[in-house]
Amino acid sequence: MAKREIRIYPDDVLRQETIHVTEFAKGLHTLLDDMKETMYSAHGIGLAAPQIGELLRVTVIDVSEDGDDPLEFINPIITTKDGTVPSEEGCLSIPDFRETITRAECVTVDAQNRHGESFQVEADGLLAICLQHEIDHLDGVLFIDHLSRLKREIFKKKWGKRL
Ligand code: CO
Repeated sequence: MAKREIRIYPDDVLRQETIHVTEFAKGLHTLLDDMKETMYSAHGIGLAAPQIGELLRVTVIDVSEDGDDPLEFINPIITTKDGTVPSEEGCLSIPDFRETITRAECVTVDAQNRHGESFQVEADGLLAICLQHEIDHLDGVLFIDHLSRLKREIFKKKWGKRL
């Protein structure tokens, strides 16, 4: 396993389209292991492949209390959404910025595991939020895209000062 560099906004790679995974072999397994190591070392609860510069539909998530229950999602898609809930979010690719957006409360996600086997998850709570955040990354969408217009202006001002 190897820790990889996390790409930081406004890196272009965070806005690009990702490719559907068709090979469930060693290359994918190495990527998944690298993503988990990178996520844990950054104290994150989710990481999507574009965040380490890989344009593949792959994400890892660990919302367990002890950070010892990693979940892997290959080619995930949200098939149902239900309810709405406020969600205070941050992102490893947008350091030092947290803001509240609106997410669906419950989601159903269809995905594949590292061996290409299909599975389905019905999620609520933090897992539902995290799945929406990470699957957004696979479509080049960042949580700041969900900010209200006013909050987005605040973000731009704050971020401008960092550059
Ligand atoms: Co993120």
